[in-house]
Amino acid sequence: VMTQWEAIEKRVSCRTFRDMLPARELIDSLIERTRELAEESGADIRFVYSTDIGRPVVKLSPSMFSGGVYAAAALIGGTDPLSAEKLGYYGEELLLYAARLGLGTCWVAGTYEPDSIDVRPAEGERLWGVIPMGYAAEPTPMKQKMIRGALRAKSRKIESMIQGDCAFSDLPGWVRTGVEAVRMGPSAVNGQPVNIVYEGGRVFARIIKDNHGLQLNDLGIAKRQFEAGAAHCGVSGTWQWGDGAQFVVRQ
Ligand SMILES: Cc1cc2nc3c(=O)[nH]c(=O)nc-3n(C[C@H](O)[C@H](O)[C@H](O)COP(=O)(O)O)c2cc1C
Repeated sequence: VMTQWEAIEKRVSCRTFRDMLPARELIDSLIERTRELAEESGADIRFVYSTDIGRPVVKLSPSMFSGGVYAAAALIGGTDPLSAEKLGYYGEELLLYAARLGLGTCWVAGTYEPDSIDVRPAEGERLWGVIPMGYAAEPTPMKQKMIRGALRAKSRKIESMIQGDCAFSDLPGWVRTGVEAVRMGPSAVNGQPVNIVYEGGRVFARIIKDNHGLQLNDLGIAKRQFEAGAAHCGVSGTWQWGDGAQFVVRQ
């Protein structure tokens, strides 16, 4: 099993899955982890899987994806800001866990058929998206590389993702690594709508623009990624919820 930081460095959105059922031990680990996170968050996060190669669990758009998906997280929540942000945060936690187990993953909020997955949201809630999990095709197919290139993943300058009252080079190392983790993390159409703010020695996360209506998911994802970067440098802390909220360092 990879460390969290190794998973962050290695992760890219997987758009080509091998037609294979994930190993039973991995399925069991994911069932258990999903249960824990759903309980901790209070959010409706479900894990769905298939034991039949003829029956994938969700149909992803063939223009963006290929191969069968036999395991996926379904992220269900209300339309309020807290639900959306929590699904981002805990969805990313689950995604990183799957990545550590060696599975390919991708956040998918748009390019899939919602009716193809067997989950029924509660009254007043909706399916925000799915995270397919499976074995990534190797080597990475050219089509997938082209999609990634078109989205200009990772080309954004790290300096543009932080606002602060000191020069970038004067930031504490753990803050820089946190921002680096945000930059390496996923965001809808790679819009990266979240800035980390460093003011008076304190860290905040702020949405700087709309991102196809998914900026609150992106905020939760960015917070989870930042936390992993800080932890890699030995700093642990807890994010408060909300746009502009603080990362409270544990002393
Ligand atoms: C909230 C969210 C929704 C996304 N929805 C889709 C989607 O519907 N289809 C898709 O192909 N990729 C989707 N993605 C994946 C992004 O395009 C991808 O994360 C981004 O381009 C960065 O590339 P990387 O993940 O390889 O670093 C989504 C990502 C996020 C965070």
